Amino acid sequence: MRQAGRYLPEYRALRARFGFLELCRNPEAAAEVTLQPVDRLGVDAAILFADILLIVEPLGVGLEFAKGEGPVIHRPVRTPADVHALPPVNVEDAVPFVFETVRTVARALGGRVPLIGFAGAPFTVASYLVEGGPSRDYLHTKRLMYEAPAAWHQLMKILANITARYLNGQIAAGADAVQLFDSWVGVLSRDDYRAFVLPHVRALIAALTPGTPVIHFGTGTSALLPLMRQAGGDVIGLDWRVDLDVGWDAVGHDVGVQGNLDPAVLLGPPSLIRERVKSILDRAAGRPGHIFNLGHGVHQETPVDHVRLMVDLVHELSDRRVAGDSLS
Ligand code: CP3
Repeated sequence: MRQAGRYLPEYRALRARFGFLELCRNPEAAAEVTLQPVDRLGVDAAILFADILLIVEPLGVGLEFAKGEGPVIHRPVRTPADVHALPPVNVEDAVPFVFETVRTVARALGGRVPLIGFAGAPFTVASYLVEGGPSRDYLHTKRLMYEAPAAWHQLMKILANITARYLNGQIAAGADAVQLFDSWVGVLSRDDYRAFVLPHVRALIAALTPGTPVIHFGTGTSALLPLMRQAGGDVIGLDWRVDLDVGWDAVGHDVGVQGNLDPAVLLGPPSLIRERVKSILDRAAGRPGHIFNLGHGVHQETPVDHVRLMVDLVHELSDRRVAGDSLS
């Protein structure tokens, strides 16, 4: 999930001084934002403050985070000629500030909690490149896939390659685990995932430094879970649309799962939050390999107290389960 962001007053205070990309490019400030939820909420891991789209900037496509609109790509990649025109990227030179943020956070944490690095998965990043921003039905993306499959595969290869180097750079700088966000891959059918996405995610994950856990996450993926598992990852991230135990059965119990509270539940009253947290822990049934998480990022409107309550409840209810008490 995204755990830093605009629901936190201390994040908004920093954002009043820096633009979003400016914040990402400033290792000291980005490290501070990374640590804010750890200090404020008592979460069990820090998540690098960065964005999945930082890696597309060096492709020269004109990335901007426009106020109130989210990300905008001014020169979308829609045709085979656009794909062929993409310049080679030297990741180390292109985003040194991200690696510096990782080093700064790792130093500040001193092992207190692990640090999770991340990147966007090739499909989700490609969808921004092709659409030029967020989309509802991803028709430009699907059109490129269907009309020009060779160009599509070339684009996915480029992204898988730079993303593997980007994640390996984060690991070398001190990330203890990495998460691959395929946030929008749920718009694909199983056949399209198999043909147009799976080989590239598999190659990407296979190229990662061995020994660092990989979390592979998407939303709207109920039908895709067994294929995502085939693509790889030590832990598969589940969104809230699937029951956690059903999702775990779908990916197999020899991998971990992460999830999967609907972030909108945090807008509801404490009694509901307690009921839903408990229901997820009941479905995990105390098995090793479950990382409690939201099924997607924290909404901007969320009361900080409710996020804190959720974290406390997870600790309280899972401690009791470990102690063997019955949960109530
Ligand atoms: O601390 C953390 O949790 C890490 C922070 C993080 C951000 N982006 C910071 C951010 C993470 C893990 C991401 C990943 C990301 N970025 C994803 C994958 C995860 C997901 O949520 O599905 C995606 C799809 C993006 C692309 C992106 N970046 C969008 C769609 C937006 C705009 C949405 C919005 O909330 O306005 C961003 C901007 C962004 N990335 C913000 C933050 C804190 C808000 C920007 C701001 O401060 O104005």
